[in-house]
Amino acid sequence: MRLLGISGSLREGSFNTQLVKAAAEALAPDAFTLADLRLPLYDGDLEAQGMPEGVTRLVDEIRAADAIVISTPEYNAGLSGVLKNALDWISRVPPMAFAGKPTAILSAAAGRAGGARAQMTLRHCLVAFRPVLLQGPEVMIPNAQGAFEGGALVDPMARKLLGEQMAALRALVG
Ligand SMILES: Cc1cc2nc3c(=O)[nH]c(=O)nc-3n(C[C@H](O)[C@H](O)[C@H](O)COP(=O)(O)O)c2cc1C
Repeated sequence: MRLLGISGSLREGSFNTQLVKAAAEALAPDAFTLADLRLPLYDGDLEAQGMPEGVTRLVDEIRAADAIVISTPEYNAGLSGVLKNALDWISRVPPMAFAGKPTAILSAAAGRAGGARAQMTLRHCLVAFRPVLLQGPEVMIPNAQGAFEGGALVDPMARKLLGEQMAALRALVG
């Protein structure tokens, strides 16, 4: 199984990137790729000059994946702009790369809701991409600073939930 991980945060110490890596560890796929969302801001004029290389690479990685995990930070009650920008670019490359792809959504946030609102907005955006979205269990990591240590997810309850979610994702892949 080839897993593609997508983190909606660019920062080095991102808890969402750590969560994507923890998900990959739990799923133990044959191959794991972490997507690079350092793409230019979507601009129709730029698109008219040709699809940026980073977008083409990302779309190819989605097409090659058997399963996808997306972890989004919560920024002002929504998904991150970085992730939305990537989705906007991806949507411009037909046919839709996400169509039919088993996909799990996760989030880690500083707040007590663990990014619940960000997940809701991400689910909403993804409808048009037609992935096979895992409905549960939901994985939201609240107070993320306390759940990770040295780059690893250490919170026992979060680890248990993540394990259950990845088992469900594996079952979805079949
Ligand atoms: C612009 C901005 C907006 C934020 N808004 C929220 C929010 O609405 N809810 C929340 O729980 N945390 C919010 N946070 C805190 C993030 O959850 C926290 O910075 C988190 O660690 C970001 O994810 P990362 O560690 O993957 O970069 C916000 C942070 C930033 C920078």
